[in-house]
Amino acid sequence: MAACNYHFLLFVLAVAVTASAQVNTTSNGTLSPDFYSSTCPEASSIVQKVVIAAIKNETRVGASLLRLHFHDCFVNGCDGSVLLDDNATFVGEKTSVPNNNSARGFNVVDQIKAALEQACPGVVSCADILALASRHSVVYLGGPSWTVQLGRRDSTTASRSASNTSIPPPTSNLSALISSYSAQGLSVQDLVTLSGAHTIGLTRCTSFRARIYNDSDIDPSFAKSLQRICPRNGSDNVLARLDLQTPTFFDNLYYKNLVNYKGILHSDEELFNGSSTTALLVKRYATDNSVFFKDFAKAIVKMGNIKPLTGTSGEVRINCRKVN
Ligand code: HEM
Ligand SMILES: *[C@@H]1O[C@H](CO)[C@@H](O)[C@H](O)[C@H]1NC(C)=O
Ligand SMILES: *[C@@H]1O[C@H](CO)[C@@H](O)[C@H](O)[C@H]1NC(C)=O
Ligand SMILES: *[C@@H]1O[C@H](CO)[C@@H](O)[C@H](O)[C@H]1NC(C)=O
Ligand SMILES: *[C@@H]1O[C@H](CO)[C@@H](O)[C@H](O)[C@H]1NC(C)=O
Ligand SMILES: *[C@@H]1O[C@H](CO)[C@@H](O)[C@H](O)[C@H]1NC(C)=O
Ligand SMILES: *[C@@H]1O[C@H](CO)[C@@H](O)[C@H](O)[C@H]1NC(C)=O
Ligand SMILES: *[C@@H]1O[C@H](CO)[C@@H](O)[C@H](O)[C@H]1NC(C)=O
Ligand SMILES: *[C@@H]1O[C@H](CO)[C@@H](O)[C@H](O)[C@H]1NC(C)=O
Ligand SMILES: *[C@@H]1O[C@H](CO)[C@@H](O)[C@H](O)[C@H]1NC(C)=O
Ligand SMILES: *[C@@H]1O[C@H](CO)[C@@H](O)[C@H](O)[C@H]1NC(C)=O
Repeated sequence: MAACNYHFLLFVLAVAVTASAQVNTTSNGTLSPDFYSSTCPEASSIVQKVVIAAIKNETRVGASLLRLHFHDCFVNGCDGSVLLDDNATFVGEKTSVPNNNSARGFNVVDQIKAALEQACPGVVSCADILALASRHSVVYLGGPSWTVQLGRRDSTTASRSASNTSIPPPTSNLSALISSYSAQGLSVQDLVTLSGAHTIGLTRCTSFRARIYNDSDIDPSFAKSLQRICPRNGSDNVLARLDLQTPTFFDNLYYKNLVNYKGILHSDEELFNGSSTTALLVKRYATDNSVFFKDFAKAIVKMGNIKPLTGTSGEVRINCRKVN
């Protein structure tokens, strides 16, 4: 019996040593921060360099990249599906309702991919590029950092109908937002926390028109000033800040605005107006930036773990716009 236990112990130790040497083995659906440590050790710094240059060229693009990660992950998992171009024989997600005339940053993804293909051909997936670019954008714009999980592979398909239905519209009420997140395995807290991404970036008139003419949970002078740039009809693509004060700085002013009924999207203000539990969390983030940062870092990793393709599923796209 003792000898048996002894051999069992040796076996367990051997398995543990073998497992810890395989830093990039993620074939059972789990990701790892070390996935590229032997195959493309510079992956993260290459992404960072291109992202910083792109943000220096156009500050908004950091927000655009972060949103692409979200729109990728909510549609059949974080698999780079949002990046595939439409063509005569293929319908992708770029022309879905949430993305058409709205999703952007694709040229920066191309630049990142080109730099990575030069350094380590065929190794770093487009889905991982979005995860890395999001972290580098948020950090560069003054937000929290987190350990990026890697090893996602790219889809060979996309779904415009899933993009239409899985990404909640800005007219959503709180219960619709909660169900949308719940369908992704994300909690009510994740909803409140991840919406804090709206501390950066811009929104079109068409996304907030109904709110500024119809809602009662909006500061009247804020509504009036937006009505001046966003008429009842026309000017659909006129842009306004998601965060009134600092749209190029990642901070908690987004939550302070919600408390003052100055959220620009109906879905944003719902977090404060829709229930007392979500309102409490909004107030906590509005008063404590460090709690927001800590929770955001956790929640975005969770979002990045939605149904990744791993192992030999999918592929590593050579061109993020096109299936190999
Ligand atoms: C809670 C549900 C959400 C809704 C209803 C929503 C809705 C929207 C809408 C309508 C826009 C403006 C699009 C336009 O008018 O062109 C927008 C922009 C944006 N969203 Fe969200 N969003 C949500 C969650 C998220 C999440 C989870 C993230 C990231 C973690 C995110 C990141 C962004 C960013 C950064 C922008 C600005 C993009 C840019 O300036 O290019 N959003 N969102
Ligand atoms: C799969 O991943 C989970 C989570 O890391 C781990 O607990 C489990 O042992 C793994 N299973 C196999 C068969 O490798
Ligand atoms: C994992 O690492 C090994 C050894 O560096 C490499 O041969 C293999 O291609 C890597 N696997 C993936 C999926 O990157
Ligand atoms: C710089 O940003 C503009 C948009 O403001 C874009 O059209 C242009 O392609 C960008 N330049 C580079 C080199 O990325
Ligand atoms: C996307 O927007 C363009 C330009 O506004 C429009 O012509 C096109 O019909 C839209 N596509 C879809 C699928 O709605
Ligand atoms: C997505 O929604 C738009 C607008 O409702 C619709 O025109 C389009 O057919 C939908 N696409 C799919 C594939 O469901
Ligand atoms: C929230 O929106 C959903 C979908 O539009 C609707 O069915 C539901 O009645 C709304 N709930 C409330 C409380 O307004
Ligand atoms: C305001 O709400 C009404 C009723 O839901 C709707 O018909 C109308 O289009 C809305 N107004 C705007 C500007 O969206
Ligand atoms: C939402 O806003 C409306 C209008 O300001 C207000 O009457 C209602 O009490 C608010 N609901 C909650 C839960 O705060
Ligand atoms: C513009 O909006 C007004 C008020 O909602 C409406 O009466 C009018 O018919 C609209 N005009 C067009 C061209 O849609
Ligand atoms: C159209 O897109 C699909 C998916 O990316 C790709 O497989 C196909 O080769 C493309 N067709 C052309 C003509 O580029």
